[in-house]
Amino acid sequence: MTGAATALRPVGLFDAAVISLLHAECFDEARWDERAVTEILALPGAYGFIALEHEAPGGFVLARVAADECEILSLGVRRASRQGGLGRELLRAALRFATASRARAVHLEVAENNTAARHLYAVEGFTVTGRRGGYYRRAGSPEVAALVLSRDLP
Ligand SMILES: CC(C)(COP(=O)(O)OP(=O)(O)OC[C@H]1O[C@@H](n2cnc3c(N)ncnc32)[C@H](O)[C@@H]1OP(=O)(O)O)[C@@H](O)C(=O)NCCC(=O)NCCS
Repeated sequence: MTGAATALRPVGLFDAAVISLLHAECFDEARWDERAVTEILALPGAYGFIALEHEAPGGFVLARVAADECEILSLGVRRASRQGGLGRELLRAALRFATASRARAVHLEVAENNTAARHLYAVEGFTVTGRRGGYYRRAGSPEVAALVLSRDLP
């Protein structure tokens, strides 16, 4: 469970550096550098939240609403902060914002072998709506398929 010392705040353009650092801490794959994050934040309809634990960034979510659809672009929680409810809080905040922005459905991609994320998305109501074989390719590792997950929004 997240506690009283945890808070979410909306992401601003000035957050590109901190999100880039969080991304590097959360993902094994190539880091999104500051410029890449800035470009994402500048996309029409882009938004996100940063989770603060005792005022230190513990995780982030980036998403985008276009017309009546939302896409979760990235979600990550620092290793030391995992399994305490932050991922769920961030995801739910992104979904609430999407609903308030009149999105009717939300989609995302997740690696087929990402047990933690698949569990989170399943308990939050997402189902598999597509599969892209060989989507994730890293030197020295077997290719991994991406699953497309979707759910309706209230
Ligand atoms: C996926 C991720 C965001 C989850 O964040 P988190 O803060 O640990 O998740 P929560 O504590 O909110 O847990 C949410 C649910 O997922 C489950 N879960 C979390 N980690 C898990 C794990 N390693 N294995 C199985 N289930 C797990 C929790 O038990 C909980 O389910 P429950 O309600 O049935 O108990 C985090 O593991 C992460 O940052 N992973 C690396 C980046 C990544 O893969 N992002 C997703 C890309 S699509």
